[in-house]
Amino acid sequence: AETHYREFVIQAKPVKRLCRTHNTITVNGLFPGPTLEVRDGDTLVIKAVNNARYNVTLHWHGVRQLRNPWADGPDRVTQCPIRPGRSYTYRFTIENQEGTLWWHAHSRWLRATVYGALIIHPKLGFPYPFPMPRAEIPILLGEWWDRNPMDVLRIADFTGAAPNISDAYTINGQPGDLYRCSKQETVRFPVGSGEKILLRVINSALNQELFFGVANHRLTVVAVDAAYTKLFTTSVIMIAPGQTTDVLLTADQTPGHYYMAARAYNSANAPFDNTTTTAILEYKTAPGNANKGKQSTPIFPRLPGFNDTNSAIAFTSRLRSPSKVKVPLQIDENLFFTVGLGLINCTNPNSPRCQGPNGTRFAASINNMSFVLPKRNSLMQAYYQGQPGIFTTDFPPVPPVKFDYTGNVSRGLWQPVKGTKLYKLKFGAKVQIVFQDTSIVTVEDHPMHLHGYHFAVIGSGFGNFNPQKDPARFNLIDPPYRNTIGTPPGGWVAIRFEADNPGIWLLHCHLDSHLNWGLAMAFLVENGVGMLQSVQPPPLDLPRC
Ligand code: C2O
Repeated sequence: AETHYREFVIQAKPVKRLCRTHNTITVNGLFPGPTLEVRDGDTLVIKAVNNARYNVTLHWHGVRQLRNPWADGPDRVTQCPIRPGRSYTYRFTIENQEGTLWWHAHSRWLRATVYGALIIHPKLGFPYPFPMPRAEIPILLGEWWDRNPMDVLRIADFTGAAPNISDAYTINGQPGDLYRCSKQETVRFPVGSGEKILLRVINSALNQELFFGVANHRLTVVAVDAAYTKLFTTSVIMIAPGQTTDVLLTADQTPGHYYMAARAYNSANAPFDNTTTTAILEYKTAPGNANKGKQSTPIFPRLPGFNDTNSAIAFTSRLRSPSKVKVPLQIDENLFFTVGLGLINCTNPNSPRCQGPNGTRFAASINNMSFVLPKRNSLMQAYYQGQPGIFTTDFPPVPPVKFDYTGNVSRGLWQPVKGTKLYKLKFGAKVQIVFQDTSIVTVEDHPMHLHGYHFAVIGSGFGNFNPQKDPARFNLIDPPYRNTIGTPPGGWVAIRFEADNPGIWLLHCHLDSHLNWGLAMAFLVENGVGMLQSVQPPPLDLPRC
């Protein structure tokens, strides 16, 4: 195994897209940031140097960070932020994971532009469990704003409204040639006829689930969230923020130019950006190639409509682990978490901070608690030092009030309660969580991400979860393993995992506006017996609040 030393300098840099230039927060001047390529078992030592004007932390999304929450990164959860002018070195080892993950900033809205791919190859000499591709391409789906994203997001913070819908989606940082001023910058991927390529698709968009496809080409799904799947072919994938999907593509079509494209899947039926980001798959032998001066118009893929939940579910419900997996059969903790939006009454409804309906402020919650980050310390540092008064451990395992989650929720239930409550798990506890969309304000797909873990997705459905009937249909044989899973709009999804990683781990909706409105909680997983089941001591340069 190797150790990779890197320096990530977080700094503002002018970036030009769609004929407009903004000072954008980048890593090493790159947007998107650098790709990390390692092998299972390798160690990464990444010195994050903050030369920006904002507090920053970095998160290695999906890396399990066994007994090492100190390298996980969420601001005020596992660390205090890196102040401007300071640095912190993230040190962690990849343990039994391979596939596609990614990294992103995890403080306020900074991940809008601070993100990159993290590719984990198998250990030296170990093959992929699928046909060997000729080439591998990370496909980072993202967003771009016509105004400086930090200004857009600062206004969102202040008003409490959703951030402006972005002005473009992007593939590897480029909107593509369906947008104005973007023709020259469109990303082109050359491919030889008959070649197989592996697309490592990552949804790093701030607030948008996306459909993705390549014109005329079938995609063979081989992995999601750095866990292999049974192979299956599809013409379109649905991918939520935080998720990754690896697909094999064979260049078996008439040599030519084909668009790969992504556009919104928006279950809330809310106003959405109906535009499409594109890159071009370009056969090297295609007539009228770029280097010959004349280009044929690329063929466009067929993508589902923006509110086509059936297509989204049809895709996700096909995912399976390659073979039998070790899903906990008996459970020690049976948790039922409602996830949804809410509105908080304002004392002064005319305040510009209160942009919700009837002079309210938007909020979001799990089991009616709208999560508030502590100010004086991070949760993990407070826990490790035994500092009282930073959090409590009375997070409710079931919602305080049960109601019909399919709609018509009485207004009295729309107001969540703010809190910094954690839920304590014994080391090794076998945990089941059912996430239930509340349908408050709107039905919506909430992509739930659990830090420090991989979990089995054992079932999902529309409407209210039925604890008498639904568990009979759970897949405990070959469910897919993920780190981020969408709660179907107006429905539920069930996961299981074993609490084998001590520390404090954030659970949240990966739509950034929902996270900032409080759709989060954290688990405190207690130490087990001995060093191998206990949190490691913190690094000496861990920032203090
Ligand atoms: Cu991708 Cu809490 O993060």
